[in-house]
Amino acid sequence: MTLKDQYERPLRDLRISVTDRCNFRCPYCMPAEIFGERYQFLPKPQLLTFEEIARLTRILVRLGAVKARLTGGEPLLRQDIEELVAMLAAIEGVDDLAMTTNAYLLPQKLDALKAAGLKRLTISLDTLDDEIFRRMNGGRSGVDKVLAGIAAAEAAGYTPLKINAVVQRGVNDHTLVELARFFKERGHILRFIEYMDVGNKNGWRMDEVVPSAEIVERIHAELPLEPAAGNYFGEVARRYRYVDGGGEIGLISSVTQPFCGSCTRMRLSPEGRIFTCLFAVEGTDLRGPLRAGAADDEIEAIIRATWGARIDRYSEIRSSLTDEVRDRRKKVEMYHIGG
Ligand code: GTP
Ligand code: 5AD
Ligand code: SF4
Ligand code: SF4
Repeated sequence: MTLKDQYERPLRDLRISVTDRCNFRCPYCMPAEIFGERYQFLPKPQLLTFEEIARLTRILVRLGAVKARLTGGEPLLRQDIEELVAMLAAIEGVDDLAMTTNAYLLPQKLDALKAAGLKRLTISLDTLDDEIFRRMNGGRSGVDKVLAGIAAAEAAGYTPLKINAVVQRGVNDHTLVELARFFKERGHILRFIEYMDVGNKNGWRMDEVVPSAEIVERIHAELPLEPAAGNYFGEVARRYRYVDGGGEIGLISSVTQPFCGSCTRMRLSPEGRIFTCLFAVEGTDLRGPLRAGAADDEIEAIIRATWGARIDRYSEIRSSLTDEVRDRRKKVEMYHIGG
């Protein structure tokens, strides 16, 4: 029987975070003043091995997962990541295998990823303005590095790419039309993400969120858009097509138009906990049982119980929480579960 949670949502997508490290320090995710030189990231023995991740994936596929996405931190920082890609690509039932990356290391990694069987790539790029981009990644990269990653991905045939841009009012919102025009010309799918109150460290404020409706209006004024139908149940982005037939954009509106009702995502952290929501407070440990010698059926039972009890719908209740209640809630960090 298909596994369903308390609101009848099936488990379909698996987001696998392979490392808590990142070579960027985006203030909305890993502010540099907190994640400085001395910050203790997970030591290697605590990370799930590739064998452990592949084993859990096989079990999750039995429970309904059909999509796997590798995230981080920055997934390309995990040593020999292509080996994991190859192991996951070989699992029957994993119909889609994707990665979300900041693209900094992509040119040197692409051939290996492609040979290993990676199907799709999503690249984060918030603006084409170099100074603003540097501010948005903690001074770690210029736009040129990401564009080089994008060019390499194009050359390897990963088209269309999905490009993720987080939108923050007063930071990059005046550069969005330029970004849209750039990726429209290149035939990639740009998705604007409303700035979210993920984790506990970015000092999120509602007045920094630009509602998707406003983003659409601003793009539409210059590059006319019309709504497009969704691709599949549980799709995170709402799609808009350019009226001239020149491609599409997506809006990820977790704050103003939550999509918890169709949320089919399970998140696996680098050290082997599963989280049933991006804003979860606690995860369920699978590494302990794995390393204590549990059989597949026993692991499956833990996952069944966790998903079966799931009642998460944070984005839908966010607006009903007072600032104080929201701030007191100690959520898992974004860089730990990869968005
Ligand atoms: P496709 O498989 O191509 O449809 O990709 P996707 O949209 O699922 O993947 P991606 O990692 O690019 O997701 C885009 C961004 O949307 C993430 O990085 C998060 O910022 C946000 N996001 C994804 N899933 C959720 C979710 O379940 N809840 C919330 N609030 N935000 C999410
Ligand atoms: N709000 C919205 N999106 C975020 N991301 C990271 N932190 C946030 C946040 N606070 C995005 C990244 C990347 C994806 C994995 O999640 O920019 O595109
Ligand atoms: Fe790194 Fe992505 Fe977080 Fe930026 S948003 S710090 S690139 S994990
Ligand atoms: Fe899913 Fe939680 Fe995001 Fe809602 S807030 S869509 S339940 S991950």
